Amino acid sequence: NGEITQFIKQIPSVKDEKRKQMGVLLNDTKKTIEDAIKNQSSIINHQSSVIDSEWFDITLPGLKPPQGHLHLITYAIKEIAAIFEKIGFNRVAYPEVEWDWYAFEGLNMPENHPARDEWETFFIQDLLHPKYGAAVLTPHTSSGQLREMSRLKKPPIRMLNIAKCYRRQIDASHAPMFYQFDGLVIQEDINITHLKGTLDYFVKQYFGPKKESRIRPFHFQFTEPSFEVDVTCIVCGGKGCKICKGGWMELGGAGMVHPIVLKNGGIDPTKYTGFAFGWGVERVLMMKYKID
Ligand code: DAH
Repeated sequence: NGEITQFIKQIPSVKDEKRKQMGVLLNDTKKTIEDAIKNQSSIINHQSSVIDSEWFDITLPGLKPPQGHLHLITYAIKEIAAIFEKIGFNRVAYPEVEWDWYAFEGLNMPENHPARDEWETFFIQDLLHPKYGAAVLTPHTSSGQLREMSRLKKPPIRMLNIAKCYRRQIDASHAPMFYQFDGLVIQEDINITHLKGTLDYFVKQYFGPKKESRIRPFHFQFTEPSFEVDVTCIVCGGKGCKICKGGWMELGGAGMVHPIVLKNGGIDPTKYTGFAFGWGVERVLMMKYKID
């Protein structure tokens, strides 16, 4: 019942001359339309070889090519840095190959001190500074503390040092290269409540608003008093489970900067106090996502 067919049916009733013209015109029109359809479907066929055998919606959006993403550690570093930058910490970067003074001696760990054993250190052969001692691969980001003190010379200091660290340790839960972040705040009248407030802030921002921090007495040479910091267990939420033993998970170290360390950094310990903390990036990342 198409329009062309209706016209073709009328041809017999049209007069001689016009009848011939009408026949030619209708034939041409029909052919033009048929050609256009044929042409169009050959384009469609070309675009999709499945069109004949399968129903195919050519208006569907195309497939997105696979997209890459940043390394998980890079994400974690960005997130941690953003959290601390929001409350005024200044992100710094210091050498990966460091002098003994900044990594140990200046942090109140003299040569042959047994505390050094914990930092199973890589030494660089035949590289010795007359004043700062042996060259080592930075065993912890705390080495940035003395560098930041001597760079700024004067408080206030609010440092966040995120960097690669190296230790001679390889097993299921230790890698010879890993990341740490160290925070350092020095100014007048800084006390433990400032440390605790900062820890709580970080724990809530990074692990979630229901998480809390807890500090336990501990020992580090470069802080006095020293603490170990725990966070509400990520798995059970604090009730106590097989993974946390008592509702808390261990996060890392912290403390009030030792007066000897302040002095070594050129800061007057009778005028200024400070707090510091240092944790592993992989560790907090794995805790956040409950990776065993
Ligand atoms: N540097 C310590 C470590 O690698 C962690 C640490 C403890 C950093 C106490 C600090 C601190 O800044 O105050 O085990």
